[in-house]
Amino acid sequence: MKVDVILGLQWGDEGKGKIVDALTPQYDVIARFQGGPNAGHTIEFDDHKIILHTIPSGILHKNTVNIIGNGVVIDPVILLKELRVVQTYNPTATDTLFISKRAHLILPIHRALDACYEKSKGDAKIGSTLKGIAPTYSDKYNRKGIRVGDILRQDFVEKYNQLTAEHLKIISLYDFDILQHRIDGIPFKEYEQRWFEAIEEMKVMQFIDTEIYLNEALAAGKSILAEGAQGTLLDIDFGAYPFVTSSNTICAGVCSGLGIPPTKIGKVYGIFKAYCTRVGSGPFPTELFDDTGAMLQKIGNEFGSTTGRPRRCGWLDLVALKYAVMINGVTDLVMTKADVLSSFEILKTANAYTINKENITYLPFDLNESIVEPIYDDIQGWNQQVDTINDIAEIPLELKNYITFIEKNVNVRISLLSLGPNRKQTFNL
Ligand code: GDP
Ligand code: IMO
Ligand code: MG
Repeated sequence: MKVDVILGLQWGDEGKGKIVDALTPQYDVIARFQGGPNAGHTIEFDDHKIILHTIPSGILHKNTVNIIGNGVVIDPVILLKELRVVQTYNPTATDTLFISKRAHLILPIHRALDACYEKSKGDAKIGSTLKGIAPTYSDKYNRKGIRVGDILRQDFVEKYNQLTAEHLKIISLYDFDILQHRIDGIPFKEYEQRWFEAIEEMKVMQFIDTEIYLNEALAAGKSILAEGAQGTLLDIDFGAYPFVTSSNTICAGVCSGLGIPPTKIGKVYGIFKAYCTRVGSGPFPTELFDDTGAMLQKIGNEFGSTTGRPRRCGWLDLVALKYAVMINGVTDLVMTKADVLSSFEILKTANAYTINKENITYLPFDLNESIVEPIYDDIQGWNQQVDTINDIAEIPLELKNYITFIEKNVNVRISLLSLGPNRKQTFNL
């Protein structure tokens, strides 16, 4: 058996949560390989809506094992809060949820540092979710982070105090009052208390060597789906640095974030919205600042699942999509939110950019500093409601043409189509 992968091809929020949940009945194991509570993965079924941040999106299915891999960073307070919600749907969730001992912990001081660094950047801020992602991964690479497996060690509190004290010295160099600082509305000192309470509660959860579990599961013929967070254009190496997140969101992240050999990667599902969105700062070549952009935001309900911030909206960018397909070796495309385009007579897709009077068809290194003019193709819209469709045979010809146009440009088949947030609104092509 091989490990299939599903990951975002744009700037995140492509609908990964919805699609992972819809695919889960086909898999024995769902495994998150990177990111942390900066993610917000939405699942809707019947009249329920649930947003997951750290727990994999297969957790609502009782017979599936869910793994939080070594590449993920965990805030115990957020994890426990999320678990309580999950347990209202799946009371035995902790029986089938395994956490890597090697996953790093987000400490309250990491969250404070995130806020401190963002504040110090002023207008040049990244627009971080302020979940402590960059400081936690920095400590990991600095070889001083604290891992889930350390929770059970005698010197855990000592390690915590040491690392916190070290960062407090750094914070004191900034115009930042730690005692006045609030994390999710809670004063820093009180958040620390809650953090330790959450650590105690976490002790009943199953910490294991997930790389061994996963490789043994593969050998035993189990089917595994690796779930990505964020998107390729936020990747630490291939996004428009520094407007990126702090992990490898791309397919290579599955190998390092779960301990899966590259030779064991199977299908790579690349998921994209039928248009583009981005939350936070950074370049976005097809961004729309007009009524069309406002309409996409309104109809698509484009507000961050984690922070509630409005998402910037624009037309589908095929230059960026092709780049993402290349980097990930995508074998199957998944297109979501085509229903949001139902009221547009004409759709646009960017097939090239003009930068400094030169036409280019790839994402340049200096995207941040460049004035990018997208070159658009006009495509006839379907201009009718599609979210009520029950059978794929009912989709309008113009939507079929939009699909074929994208497939031809990107050279990969779209094998799944999502026409609404609900589990049921998912179709094989
Ligand atoms: P993720 O981070 O990739 O899991 O995506 P988010 O959950 O942050 O954002 C996607 C949003 O779009 C959520 O509110 C989903 O419920 C919703 N969604 C997913 N697929 C579709 C779709 O095909 N159509 C519509 N209208 N909404 C969708
Ligand atoms: P999901 O998994 C959309 C963005 C932030 C910011 C940048 C860095 O739901 O698709 P960070 O908190 O990681 O330091 O923020 O990345 N960002 C996301 N945008 N969806 C996400 O996750 C994101 N996770 C981080 O807005 O611009
Ligand atoms: Mg999201």
